[in-house]
Amino acid sequence: MMESALTARDRVGVQDFVLLENHTSEVAFIENLRKRFKENLIYTYIGSVLVSVNPYKDLEIYTKQHMERYRGVNFYEVSPHIYAVSDNAYRSMRTERRDQCILISGESGAGKTEASKKVLQYYAVTCPASDHVQTVKDRLLQSNPVLEAFGNAKTLRNDNSSRFGKYMDIQFDFKGAPVGGHILNYLLEKSRVVHQSHGERNFHIFYQLIEGGEEDLLRRLGLERNTQQYQYLVKGNCPKVSSINDRSDWKVVRKALSVIGFSDDEVEELLNIIASVLHLGNVQYGGEDSGNAYITTDTQIKYLARLLDVDGSVLKEALTHKKITAKGEELMSPLNQEQASSARDALSKAIYGRTFTWLVNKINDSLALKDDSFNSKNASVIGLLDIYGFEVFQNNSFEQFCINYCNEKLQQLFIELTLKSEQEEYEAEGITWEPVQYFNNKIICDLVEEKFKGIISILDEECLRPGDASDITFLEKLEDTVGGHAHFLTHKLADGKTRKVMGRDEFRLLHYAGEVNYNVNGFLDKNNDLLFRNLKEVMCMSENKILTQCFEREELTDKKRPETTATQFKNSLAKLMEILMSKEPSYVRCIKPNDAKQAGRFDEVLIRHQVKYLGLMENLRVRRAGFAYRRRYEVFLQRYKSLCPDTWPNWDGRLVDGVSTLVKHLGYKPEEYKLGRSKIFIRFPKTLFATEDALEVQKHSLATMLQASWKGYSQKSKYRKLKHSAILIQAWWRGILARRRAQRRRQAVETIRRFIKGFMYRHQPRCPENEYFLDYVRYSFLMKLHRNLPKTVLDKSWPTPSPALSEASEHLRKLCMQNMVWKYCKTISPEWKHQLEQKMVASEIFKDKKDNYPQSVPKLFVGTRLNGEDINPKVLQALGSEKMKYAVPVTKYDRKGYKARARQLLLTGSSVIIVEDTKLKQSIDYSALKGISVSSLSDGMFVLHVTCEDNKQKGDVVLQSDHVIETLTKVAICAEKINNININQGSIKFTVGQGKEGIIDFTSGSELLISKAKNGHLSVTAPRLNSR
Ligand SMILES: Nc1ncnc2c1ncn2[C@@H]1O[C@H](COP(=O)(O)OP(=O)(O)OP(=O)(O)O)[C@@H](O)[C@H]1O
Ligand SMILES: [Mg+2]
Repeated sequence: MMESALTARDRVGVQDFVLLENHTSEVAFIENLRKRFKENLIYTYIGSVLVSVNPYKDLEIYTKQHMERYRGVNFYEVSPHIYAVSDNAYRSMRTERRDQCILISGESGAGKTEASKKVLQYYAVTCPASDHVQTVKDRLLQSNPVLEAFGNAKTLRNDNSSRFGKYMDIQFDFKGAPVGGHILNYLLEKSRVVHQSHGERNFHIFYQLIEGGEEDLLRRLGLERNTQQYQYLVKGNCPKVSSINDRSDWKVVRKALSVIGFSDDEVEELLNIIASVLHLGNVQYGGEDSGNAYITTDTQIKYLARLLDVDGSVLKEALTHKKITAKGEELMSPLNQEQASSARDALSKAIYGRTFTWLVNKINDSLALKDDSFNSKNASVIGLLDIYGFEVFQNNSFEQFCINYCNEKLQQLFIELTLKSEQEEYEAEGITWEPVQYFNNKIICDLVEEKFKGIISILDEECLRPGDASDITFLEKLEDTVGGHAHFLTHKLADGKTRKVMGRDEFRLLHYAGEVNYNVNGFLDKNNDLLFRNLKEVMCMSENKILTQCFEREELTDKKRPETTATQFKNSLAKLMEILMSKEPSYVRCIKPNDAKQAGRFDEVLIRHQVKYLGLMENLRVRRAGFAYRRRYEVFLQRYKSLCPDTWPNWDGRLVDGVSTLVKHLGYKPEEYKLGRSKIFIRFPKTLFATEDALEVQKHSLATMLQASWKGYSQKSKYRKLKHSAILIQAWWRGILARRRAQRRRQAVETIRRFIKGFMYRHQPRCPENEYFLDYVRYSFLMKLHRNLPKTVLDKSWPTPSPALSEASEHLRKLCMQNMVWKYCKTISPEWKHQLEQKMVASEIFKDKKDNYPQSVPKLFVGTRLNGEDINPKVLQALGSEKMKYAVPVTKYDRKGYKARARQLLLTGSSVIIVEDTKLKQSIDYSALKGISVSSLSDGMFVLHVTCEDNKQKGDVVLQSDHVIETLTKVAICAEKINNININQGSIKFTVGQGKEGIIDFTSGSELLISKAKNGHLSVTAPRLNSR
């Protein structure tokens, strides 16, 4: 999705110039650049070379998401980007274990430094990291602001122009994590320290310190917060630049210094040096009559002595004198004002230049691999070259000469490497290759660097030879030696037309990138880079820790002449070329769209010039001469296989056969392509375009097809997954059920077995064989009992126990009964208790003895059958204090005639009393009551037997009660005669008085009949009851 969006967006012009139809046309080339630039597409490829146009505005293309998009993705599959180049180099390093370098070139302000920072950021973000690595990443990133502060300056071309060359190695461990780094610096433009052209500034650090430095820091350094106060900062008349915020940059730099590992002391000493350069600039001279210079600003010397940690007077002398050796004797020769000024400036440049080198070394220490187990030999490296671009000013001096020479060298390297690699590739793939004509700038490199004959050699010679050598003699020497060279010209050698635009003190070089006139003034001095010996001595005496490393004392005793600046530069460039040659290069060619640093302005003239001198057209020609497009078989097949039914969806055979089948199907003509050993080469972009277009069309139908089959596939796999899950769940559940069933069956079998065994052993004492059975029997009996317990005391039912439990059962039954009784007893009232006690007594007396007893059982006994109002008050009066316990109406039968008379029977605490209306007819003391007789039949007759000795008594009393059971029970209780009640069968004898006896005969009949029989007995017929 993302990718297609990118490609779609990038369909402005072509994203690779190789695909330009009209590849020889510069117009078409620039038109493509313009089209893309207008759409903010600042990157375009020429094969693997990245062309970048400075947009002069922030584009939203450097976010983390962008980085992710380019990470690990094939170079050609995403739109051109500096990240693609970075990633490609990184992956080549990782997979091929070959050191890489990214060469960034272009003129001042074209965006080289920015590009190199983007590369570094890309690695910092996307590469794997550990804790240690994080600090390395931070330091790598933070080295930039520090180096830029000390090495960059505002120039007319670029507000942040790098005034030194920089090559940085990033070292990676075998896991691909950055673990260290190393920086090489080239030729700092020291002259800027003492002089700036109009509209330019000194190095950023001076302004940052003055604008941003804390008050007490400035006080310590003896500085004022006003850049206008310093001679070295006013030359260009440009203290403020709108795009630069010195104050906030100061904070950034100060922080970066600590991240890199500078201690506070080191920072202080570094700033002492920076401040001392400013003070040096303010050292002013006056001239005496004799012309000898003297210092007019003594305060500066004071500050300088302190800041540089040197002896003030020695410094003062050294700034105004020169030590010369004449006839073996050392003499101090005074300087004139001009000489003194240049000696002072030389010192400033030397101090600043050496301090800058020290700074780079210090950063290198901090970036150096710390892990001993890991030496730089087995680290893989990506080098990053950000070096000053080709420069042409109104007035070009020694610095421009060096810088442009450097660019010649890089161009040389570029030509060699691109051509070489192209050639190697064809060779390796077995493709015949026809060499392409291109301008080889070796001739210019030779003009500059050749031994003895080269410009640098001639310059050195002039510097070293005794006598009055001067810049002009140098120019003449050049005319003599290289005057005939096709790429060299001077005023003298030029034709009339050219002479008009050349000064007499200039020489012209026809660089690959264009013509440049160099003014020879200052060449000798700058090449000599002379610092008077006595000044050097002073500096070597310094106690400042940084300066002691910058000015080593051995230098004073070393008699060997130091190498000239140009030679040093030449040698370091040769070394750099060696380094770069040993690595696999990637190129970033930066183009500046206009001179006004403006966004959106595409200055065609300026750009055409850069396209030309960067050799981009040649680059393209070389690339196109052979085959516009090449791709490894697997990549080609992977991308286009959908265009041929034989290769879609997969090709099983050899890759080359697959590609061959594919291109034949696509209708490639034999001259359009060649098959190498591992790559296909396509000659014309048209062919590739047609294929790409076909792919675009195919993509839509493929997408629909893919969607459909994907949907089908995903639905199917979803369904399959569901089904599978269902089956799985079913199987599990069935398993669980089956296991449960089996378990239960096993248990059942076990139970049955135990049961049977138990049954067989049931009569034995408890033993393992029968304990289950016995327990079960016990349990089931108890359960049965639990369910069938008798509910009332009268309920006599009880489950039949097995023989083994009969004893326990009996106990339980008793317990149960007791419990019921107890429970019952607890609930009964005292009245009821009383009732029951009486009933008990009745039962004891009559149960199974008298026929009408059963009828009496359900009828409750009453307290009394006659109340106070039923009894005559006189009777009650006669009873006196005697309490009446029971009263009942009775019938009395005379002893003689058996006449029935109604009477009342009263029971008191001590006697039975027979009452006739108002009279107490007879009172029988309980002690005189011998016994009571009743029949066993259902009648109510009873006889009270009275003691005969008692004369008052007239004999036994025959009575009849309708409530005979109740009445007799009461009498028995009151008189305590329970055992004295006789129940007779047939007849009762009783005493009639004076020894006479009466008899009552009982028979049963249909109804109650009481009468005197003929034999003089009282005959009683008691009704027969059903129950009997
Ligand atoms: N990719 C970019 N996106 C936005 N702005 C950019 C980009 N590249 C460069 N610039 C702008 O252009 C200015 C100059 O770029 P840079 O300092 O990288 O140039 P240079 O090629 O290093 O020049 P010199 O040779 O002078 O050091 C930057 O300060 C920045 O404002
Ligand atoms: Mg730069």
